Amino acid sequence: MRLILLGAPGAGKGTQANYIREKFNIPQISTGDMLRAAVKAGTPLGLEAKAIMDAGGLVRDDIIIGLVKERIAQPDAANGFLFDGFPRTIPQAEAMIAAGVDIDYVVEIDVPDAAIVDRMAGRRVHVASGRTYHVKYNPPKVEGKDDETGEDLIQRDDDKEEVVLKRLGVYHEQTEVLVGFYGKMAASGDEKAPKYIKIDGTQAVEAVRDQTLKALGA
Ligand code: AP5
Ligand code: ZN
Repeated sequence: MRLILLGAPGAGKGTQANYIREKFNIPQISTGDMLRAAVKAGTPLGLEAKAIMDAGGLVRDDIIIGLVKERIAQPDAANGFLFDGFPRTIPQAEAMIAAGVDIDYVVEIDVPDAAIVDRMAGRRVHVASGRTYHVKYNPPKVEGKDDETGEDLIQRDDDKEEVVLKRLGVYHEQTEVLVGFYGKMAASGDEKAPKYIKIDGTQAVEAVRDQTLKALGA
């Protein structure tokens, strides 16, 4: 199974990716996580990406497309994968079509802007695994610690309110068009086109999970 999780920053893509990945035994490919790993490792890509990410902008399409192509060529992606935070622009989506990457499902997690800042302010992340918590809505068992490893949770550099607002603006300008892009493909009747699923992401984490897995036939 190959699927795309689409949604605004803070919609819950990473949170739901964890459940889908486990259920279908496919790798989660998060371009955000890949970029954060590059920043942490201090690679040339990381050095270039850090300033862009901290300002809430998008990293260049050619860089992202190269990263993703390399990643999906890895053996663990042979039986499918879950894109989280990719594609984020029309050129990124078109690059996958040009590369012959057929997608089975596009899952849109719909959350209005008003709910997003609150979610980001309370987000805590376990960097090594990408596991994501919220101090109020999805708290870890022990405050500030990852459930599985007991390691420290951190706040992301781009979760400051002014950066979150910038990221939301970028989402509406450059990424939201993909809703129509994939919606049209799904409606075309082409048998290779992905199925389009829209989920109300304002519900509790478990309700979003159950609806999503059900829609995916799990
Ligand atoms: P990326 O890491 O992809 O960030 P994003 O898309 O902005 O999304 P987030 O990770 O912030 O949110 P999420 O939807 O995963 O929500 P989460 O599950 O964590 O990208 C970061 C940056 O990298 C970009 O700004 C860009 O610079 C660059 N980049 C990445 N990909 C790129 C690309 N393809 N092209 C160009 N540049 C790229 O949930 C958020 C919080 O809410 C958590 O605390 C969670 O616990 C909580 N929560 C989740 N679900 C619920 C719920 N149902 N109810 C209540 N709380 C909930
Ligand atoms: Zn995420």
